[in-house]
Amino acid sequence: MNDWAALSDRLRETADRPIRALFSDPNRAQNFSAILETPATGPILFDYSKTNIDEATRAALLDLARARSVEARRDAMFQGARINETEDRAVLHTALRNLQGSVMVDGQDVMPEVRATLARMESFARDLRDGRIRAAGGRVTDVVNIGIGGSDLGPAMAVQALSPYADGPRCHFVSNVDGAHIHDVLEALNPETTLVIVASKTFTTIETMTNAQTAKAWMSRAVAEPTRQFVALSTALDKTSAFGIDPARVFGFADWVGGRYSMWGPIGLSLMIAIGPEDFRAFLAGAAAMDQHFLSAPLDENMPVALAMVGVWHRQVCGHAARAVLPYDQRLARLPAYLQQLEMESNGKRVSMDGEDLTVPSGPVVFGEPGTNGQHAFYQLIHQGTDVVPCEFLLAGQGHEPALAHQHRLLAANCLAQAEALMQGRTLEEARALMAAKGLSGEELERQARHRVFPGNRPSTLLLYPKLTPAMLGAIIALYEHRVFVEGVVLGINSFDQWGVELGKELASQLLPMIEGKATTEGRDGSTAALVARLREFGV
Ligand code: F6P
Repeated sequence: MNDWAALSDRLRETADRPIRALFSDPNRAQNFSAILETPATGPILFDYSKTNIDEATRAALLDLARARSVEARRDAMFQGARINETEDRAVLHTALRNLQGSVMVDGQDVMPEVRATLARMESFARDLRDGRIRAAGGRVTDVVNIGIGGSDLGPAMAVQALSPYADGPRCHFVSNVDGAHIHDVLEALNPETTLVIVASKTFTTIETMTNAQTAKAWMSRAVAEPTRQFVALSTALDKTSAFGIDPARVFGFADWVGGRYSMWGPIGLSLMIAIGPEDFRAFLAGAAAMDQHFLSAPLDENMPVALAMVGVWHRQVCGHAARAVLPYDQRLARLPAYLQQLEMESNGKRVSMDGEDLTVPSGPVVFGEPGTNGQHAFYQLIHQGTDVVPCEFLLAGQGHEPALAHQHRLLAANCLAQAEALMQGRTLEEARALMAAKGLSGEELERQARHRVFPGNRPSTLLLYPKLTPAMLGAIIALYEHRVFVEGVVLGINSFDQWGVELGKELASQLLPMIEGKATTEGRDGSTAALVARLREFGV
């Protein structure tokens, strides 16, 4: 029997069992949790007891992970093997945060370069924060990071997440090629005291290069030497100098850092400027602690493996198409967007590493909003819709506002209540009793009661951590990175390429001259041709 078949059997055998029935085992909460305590982070708890996974299912999931050689693939990644086979690259974002020792790629130790670049970033960030690096109008008050995808989402998410630690210049983020984005950001800034960071691994991404030119033109209207107030973060050093950026203001990295895994190195410069080099080091240390755990813990105690196997169970075995990420932590508001790229760009693939069609579904749709906002928006469907959406809650033990601790307790109560409601539900009998208590009877009672039934038995997990510190954020992001890695290995796909974004880019470059009226739409499909014509009528 293959490993998926063993899991399908587990699903068949347990599908009708209510999750809540599993709590007849008084130790279930402990037995179906993973705890990681590191000096950098304190204790992190991943509780997956409110899922329908039991001992036998967990064993089958771990058998699958072993059969897919998760441990060997993990070790190969950390050792610098070229596991990104379709691009023939190593995958070593972990080297950006495990700063000790050496990592060999093609017989060369990459760590001296990593440490040297980090030291240059730190010296730049310190000089900027302390006012030694100045703009035309004096001290730099604002930093604009221009980038998209992995060159935007990581630092944008982290700067917001760690705002209680921010004591440097204000950081702003421009990503969309829609001119409204850069217009609205620059409008509020003074070019004489603004530094622009152009963040692009390839330095060819059309959105970023277009916005960078717009920023340069904006700066040049007020500043004699605009590119002196530009910094580049890229692997393409020839292109950054063609743009006019001083090589001393370029922070490079190697091709073994994937875009969506790049916030640990130069792409994290805006974060370092915001929170300072010491807190940035703490952020790296938290991630490194998660790396060490991932590398050394046995599979059955390994938190990223547990998170991944819960994901595999819900998506590939149970067939649930979506996954909700629900941070009860307002400053993690951009985490769902960040994870959309990390998870969907990594594992949204239908062909295995060797080019065969997958026999199971690819990764799920990821979406989410912070609690409690989501409760007043889409939780209705999660509780009573016809599809099951596994939920992943995140919650801190403490907020950063001691004077508002009562609000944090209310937040926590809401988080736990949602998880409980999803699992317990409300039976028709209970709903009838509620309606009877309201004085209803007969047909009206029946009708109203049915609307108040919650099917329950809807799975959720909770990541519970002491406080959202820089180290904790690092550990959480590394946890999700490794989860994506493990899920990708189990699927047998390459989690580190993104060929699926290419076709749209190619077609956009063909359509632009048609929209500009410089080429005809002959040969395009009728819908696209008609829409181009209508746009031109609108004076696009
Ligand atoms: O969306 C495709 C992609 O290549 C992402 O993987 C990447 O994070 C983003 O574009 C930006 O790329 P770059 O950093 O090269 O501008």
